[in-house]
Amino acid sequence: MRLGILTGGGDCPGLNAVIRAVVKTAVMDYGFEVVGFLDGFKGVVEDMAKNLTLEDVSGILPRGGTILGTSNRDNPFKYRTPEGVKDRSEEALNNLSRRGIDLLITVGGDGTQAIALKFAEKGVKIIGIPKTIDNDLGGTDQTFGFDTARTVATEAVDRLHSTAESHHRIMVLEVMGRDAGWIALHAGLAGGADVILIPEIDFSLERAAEAIRRREKMGKRFSIVVVAEGAKIDGKKVYLMKVDDPTQSMRLGGVGRVVATTLQEMVDLEARYTILGHLQRGGSPTPFDRILATRYGYHAVKAAASGESEKLVALRGKDIVLVPLEEAVENPKRVKPDDELVLAAKAIGVSFGDL
Ligand code: F6P
Repeated sequence: MRLGILTGGGDCPGLNAVIRAVVKTAVMDYGFEVVGFLDGFKGVVEDMAKNLTLEDVSGILPRGGTILGTSNRDNPFKYRTPEGVKDRSEEALNNLSRRGIDLLITVGGDGTQAIALKFAEKGVKIIGIPKTIDNDLGGTDQTFGFDTARTVATEAVDRLHSTAESHHRIMVLEVMGRDAGWIALHAGLAGGADVILIPEIDFSLERAAEAIRRREKMGKRFSIVVVAEGAKIDGKKVYLMKVDDPTQSMRLGGVGRVVATTLQEMVDLEARYTILGHLQRGGSPTPFDRILATRYGYHAVKAAASGESEKLVALRGKDIVLVPLEEAVENPKRVKPDDELVLAAKAIGVSFGDL
């Protein structure tokens, strides 16, 4: 077989580990060829690709980013051109068949897998691999990249603790999480935050302030707040920059500043905020993500070899299974207000600003 592979959407620690596992399994275990498309679906539309050899993937396991490059503006069905947005999916299909691609492995989050599904409906054989630091893709218990992001965010919470305590301040940490609060929830729990604010749970900052005042009464003259970038203030998300491009999402950021300035006015403590941003996405993956990415890559090739298509390799419990690609796209994973982790956090006194 000749397999194609692309990495789409925002980059994520573990992408190179996936590429390495795909190439090694394909070449060493099955005698397949692998063609890597550059910059996500853009490489399929513009026919930018290269054959991937064992040499190409040597030494990339611990490296962040993706050796193939990626892009956020690469939807072939809504492709950005100087003349406006166009459907270039036919060109993509032609390039795939001209290169003799038997099956395309799409490594990406909801956007990439939604595009992959449209190609599957046009007859392209597809196996998806779930990627995103946000952990918000359906069908799988965990995406690769999430463990690295929560590890970086937890370290940030730990570091903020000592300075918060010394200065008797409120420290607000804004972490990524566009529509889902998984990073905030996990890092908040792992780092011992006092307040966690996420997009899925409506909160009021007055409630959060009450929690901080309660702590003050107990003699705790500092508090740590972890807020997901997609958390809503008065029902609205906070945007950092306007994006004048219909193919791109608006850039989130700044909710941490709003939370810090408002809490400072409500409580008799100074507040500071930190936006962790892309530090959560860059750099080397954790051992967990390296292993998960390797398993996903291996299982994707195995699925391709056994004639599977339109499937996502997914983690369920301890096992890697195949689930329909639609599941990844149609059932995004969100934190439920009665999630066991939320209940555990509340039981140990963490406020979500909702009660
Ligand atoms: O989806 C992953 C993610 O890191 C989100 O948490 C964040 O909102 C977005 O990507 C940022 O994307 P970009 O790097 O394009 O600004």
